[in-house]
Amino acid sequence: MRAPSVVLCTLNLLSHVTDASIFSSKKTCKVKSGGTNATDDAPAILSAFKECGKHGNIIFEDEKYYVNSVMNVQGLDDVDIDIKGTLLWSTDIQYWLNHSLPVGYQNQSSAFVLGGNNVRIQGHGTGTFDGNGDYWYEWIRKQPNTSNYPGRPHALTLGNLTNSAVHGLNFLRSQMWTMSIIYSHNVVLDGIFINNTGNRVSSSNTDGADTIRSSHIKFNNWTVYNGDDSISLKANSTDISITNSRFYNGLGIAMGSIGQYNDQFETIERLTVKNIYYSNTLHAVYFKTWTDDQNGYPPNGGGGGLGFASSLTFSNLTTSGLRGGAVTISQCTRFSGAPGVGNCTNSQFQIKDVTVRGLSGTTKDNRVVSLQCSAVKPCTNIGVFDVDLKFANGTEAGAYLCGNAPGTRGFECTGSPCVGGSATGGC
Ligand SMILES: *[C@@H]1O[C@H](CO)[C@@H](O)[C@H](O)[C@H]1NC(C)=O
Ligand SMILES: *[C@@H]1O[C@H](CO)[C@@H](O)[C@H](O)[C@H]1NC(C)=O
Ligand SMILES: *[C@@H]1O[C@H](CO)[C@@H](O)[C@H](O)[C@H]1NC(C)=O
Ligand SMILES: *[C@@H]1O[C@H](CO)[C@@H](O)[C@H](O)[C@H]1NC(C)=O
Ligand SMILES: *[C@@H]1O[C@H](CO)[C@@H](O)[C@H](O)[C@H]1NC(C)=O
Ligand SMILES: *[C@@H]1O[C@H](CO)[C@@H](O)[C@H](O)[C@H]1NC(C)=O
Ligand SMILES: *[C@@H]1O[C@H](CO)[C@@H](O)[C@H](O)[C@H]1NC(C)=O
Ligand SMILES: *[C@@H]1O[C@H](CO)[C@@H](O)[C@H](O)[C@H]1NC(C)=O
Ligand SMILES: *[C@@H]1O[C@H](CO)[C@@H](O)[C@H](O)[C@H]1NC(C)=O
Ligand SMILES: *[C@@H]1O[C@H](CO)[C@@H](O)[C@H](O)[C@H]1NC(C)=O
Ligand SMILES: *[C@@H]1O[C@H](CO)[C@@H](O)[C@H](O)[C@H]1NC(C)=O
Repeated sequence: MRAPSVVLCTLNLLSHVTDASIFSSKKTCKVKSGGTNATDDAPAILSAFKECGKHGNIIFEDEKYYVNSVMNVQGLDDVDIDIKGTLLWSTDIQYWLNHSLPVGYQNQSSAFVLGGNNVRIQGHGTGTFDGNGDYWYEWIRKQPNTSNYPGRPHALTLGNLTNSAVHGLNFLRSQMWTMSIIYSHNVVLDGIFINNTGNRVSSSNTDGADTIRSSHIKFNNWTVYNGDDSISLKANSTDISITNSRFYNGLGIAMGSIGQYNDQFETIERLTVKNIYYSNTLHAVYFKTWTDDQNGYPPNGGGGGLGFASSLTFSNLTTSGLRGGAVTISQCTRFSGAPGVGNCTNSQFQIKDVTVRGLSGTTKDNRVVSLQCSAVKPCTNIGVFDVDLKFANGTEAGAYLCGNAPGTRGFECTGSPCVGGSATGGC
C-alpha cells in the first residue's frame, strides 16, 4: 500500500558568483513524508532523486521519513542533498533479507546504495539515518551464523561515488555495518556521528565504515559508538585518512580482514591516521589477515589471498581503558568451521612500513605491541615511538611481542606473541 507520498518540485533561480553564467537554475525537490510507517516513503524519495538528481537540490525536511523498501540511487550528478530530518528503516527482516542490494564484495548487501559524481550531502548535525537495528540485533542472535548473514543489509553503501562530500550526518542503530564505501574516489566524510549501541541486546557486526576498492577517502571528525570495527580498510583501499575522531567500545581501526580471496592480490596503501581518541575499544590499531589455507568461501569462509599493506602512519593516539593489545597483527583469520588448528604463519599477505608515533593513555592490557606475523611473508619495518600507556594504577604497560617481525623500530621486543585462532591478536 502506498498513499500520499509526494515530491514537490520547484524551479529556483539561484545566482552564484562562482557560476560561469550569471543565472543558473537549479531544480529543487522537497521530499514529502507520508507521515506513518504504513506508508513507504522510498518511492517518493526515489522520484526526488530522479527528478532533481542531476544539477539539482533535494531537500529532506525536518520530518520523519519511513523507508520500507530498498533504494538504489546511481548516476547522481552535481546535486546538493539537504537532510534535516530522520529516515527510519522498517523492521520487516524477511523483506530485507530477500531484497537487499548487492554491494559487490564478500556477498555483502545494502539497504541503500548511493553513487554519482559531485554529490554534496549536508545533514546539519541533525539529519539522521535510523536503521531500527534493535530488531536486527535480537534476530541475529538466534541465527546459526551471527557474523555475515546473507542479506543482512548495510545501512548505506556509497558505491561508485566520486568527488563528493557528506557532512554532519547521524546514524543510529544500523542494521549491520553502517557505511560501506566501494568503487568510490575523492570523497570527504566529515562530522559523522554513529551510535550502534543496542537498546535491548548488544549489537554485533555494526562496523562504523568499511572501505573496499576505493581511494582518496577522508574521514574527519567521526564519533562512533559500536560493537565491531570502528573503521575498517579492506581490499584495495588506498590514500585514506582518518583524523580528529573518537571511537567508543568497538574494536578500533582495523586493517582487514584481508587475504580472504584465494590467489587474489589486494592491497591497503597510504593510510594516515591522526588525532584519535579511543574509549573502551579493544585495540587502537589492528591487522587481521586470513591464512594461506583456503577453507570455504566468503563471506564467512576463505583464505589464501596475496598482497600487502604498506605505508601506514598513525600519530597522536590517545586511549582510555583499552581492553586489549594497543597495536596488534594477527595473520590467523580462518573459517571457524575449518578442521584442525590452522596455520598462523603461512599467510602470503605482507604487512610492512607501519609507523605509530604518539600512543598514550590508559589500558587494561600489558601488550603495547603484539606482532603475530607470517613466516612466509614476515612483517617488516614496523615502528612504534613515543609510547606512554599506563594501567589505572599508574604502572606502564610493557609487553612488546614479536613473531616474524624483523627490523622493528623504536622498541625492543620483549617476547613472542601468543599464536592462536583469534583474529584480534591473541589466543
Ligand atoms: C510500524 O511501527 C509499529 C510500531 O512501532 C511496528 O510494530 C511495525 O512493525 C512497523 N511497521 C513497519 C512496516 O516497520
Ligand atoms: C522471502 O523469500 C522467501 C523464500 O523465497 C519467501 O518465502 C518469503 O515470502 C519472502 N518474504 C518476503 C517478505 O518477501
Ligand atoms: C556468494 O555469492 C555467490 C554468487 O555471487 C554464490 O555463488 C555463493 O554461494 C555466495 N556465498 C555465500 C556463502 O552465500
Ligand atoms: C550462514 O547461514 C546461511 C543461511 O542459513 C547459510 O546458507 C550459510 O551456509 C551459513 N554460513 C555459515 C558459515 O554458517
Ligand atoms: C558500480 O558500477 C558498476 C559498473 O557500472 C556496477 O556494475 C556496480 O553495480 C556499481 N556498484 C555499486 C555498489 O554501485
Ligand atoms: C564535528 O562534528 C559534529 C557533528 O557530528 C559537529 O557538531 C562539530 O562541530 C564538529 N567539530 C568540528 C571541530 O568541526
Ligand atoms: C547511544 O545509544 C544508547 C542506546 O540508546 C544510549 O544509551 C546512549 O546514551 C547513546 N550515546 C550517545 C553518545 O548518544
Ligand atoms: C586489487 O587491485 C589489484 C591491482 O592492483 C587487482 O589485480 C585486484 O583484482 C584488486 N582486487 C580487488 C578485490 O578489487
Ligand atoms: C592529539 O589528539 C587530541 C584528540 O584525541 C587533541 O585534543 C590534541 O590536540 C592532539 N594533539 C596534537 C598535538 O595535535
Ligand atoms: C605452516 O606453514 C608453513 C609455511 O607453509 C610451514 O613451513 C609450516 O610447517 C606450517 N606449520 C604447520 C604446523 O603446519
Ligand atoms: C598495576 O596493575 C597491573 C594490572 O592489573 C598489575 O599487573 C601491576 O602489578 C599493578 N602494579 C602495582 C604497582 O600495583
